[in-house]
Amino acid sequence: MLKGRHLIEPGDFNLEELEGLFSLAEKIEADGAYLRESCRGKLLATLFFEPSTRTRLSFEAAMLRLGGSCLGFAEPGSSSAAKGESLSDTIRTVSCYTDAIVMRNPKEGAALLASRVSDVPVINAGDGGHHHPTQTLTDLLTIRRFRGELGNLTIGFCGDLKFGRTVHSLAKALSRYPGVREIFISPPELRAPDYIIRGILEKEMIPYGEAEKLEDVIGDLDVLYMTRVQRERFFNEEDYIRLKDFYILTKARMENAKRDMIILHPLPRVTEIAAEVDGDPRAVYFKQAKYGMYVRMALLASVLGVV
Ligand code: CP
Repeated sequence: MLKGRHLIEPGDFNLEELEGLFSLAEKIEADGAYLRESCRGKLLATLFFEPSTRTRLSFEAAMLRLGGSCLGFAEPGSSSAAKGESLSDTIRTVSCYTDAIVMRNPKEGAALLASRVSDVPVINAGDGGHHHPTQTLTDLLTIRRFRGELGNLTIGFCGDLKFGRTVHSLAKALSRYPGVREIFISPPELRAPDYIIRGILEKEMIPYGEAEKLEDVIGDLDVLYMTRVQRERFFNEEDYIRLKDFYILTKARMENAKRDMIILHPLPRVTEIAAEVDGDPRAVYFKQAKYGMYVRMALLASVLGVV
């Protein structure tokens, strides 16, 4: 069903297809031998025009665990992009060599452009401040694992909601599940963009709220999605310094949260979650990073057509 498909933004797969991926990821997690050699002979390109730890390495780990191989670059300076080659030409070329392409690029829309010129599936690993759909797969799988369902929950997004592409993707993805309420917690300068608030939530009549203080809403939340302030997308350093420590989740602040609330974070974390919170059973962000590998295994096996 997903064989040969691109994944550029969260709406590209329907709910049934997502459910299939989550079930497959859980099967892979439960049985380490399942699909182990299924991608032997297949090649994955990982083209990262921006830094990454989790997304690139979890994709590479996923492909290697499926028995396939990887090639690519971790920064554009080592590719012919540094000589002025266009993205279209790079993608056309790499799609001659490989069976699928995972790409992160600072330009919004770059992944869509790549998908239009590629002969093989393109997976968006983040395009500027726009979308990060495989982080969304990771987040949805984590919520499903810990809450038992993806509907009927109140999720609070906290931090840099303007530039945080993981927030944009997850807010959009969750709007398709019944009974979801979304609360956006940010300073005024870092509010979620209108295309999320008006273009999706208001249009689809999804209940939502906005707040500046985390302590005003933390007691209502089933899921708290913390994010870092995205330094690389700020135009000036002064604004970043003023806003970077706006939210710091501490043990004391967690006292008003529900006992079964879970804390997610796409990572990397900077200062927004104090290390003392890591030992709280509600802090599931490192488990979330692990689920990211399983769901990327499921995704690769599906788009490569080996399941
Ligand atoms: N969550 C995420 O995208 O992490 P990286 O930037 O390390 O890939």
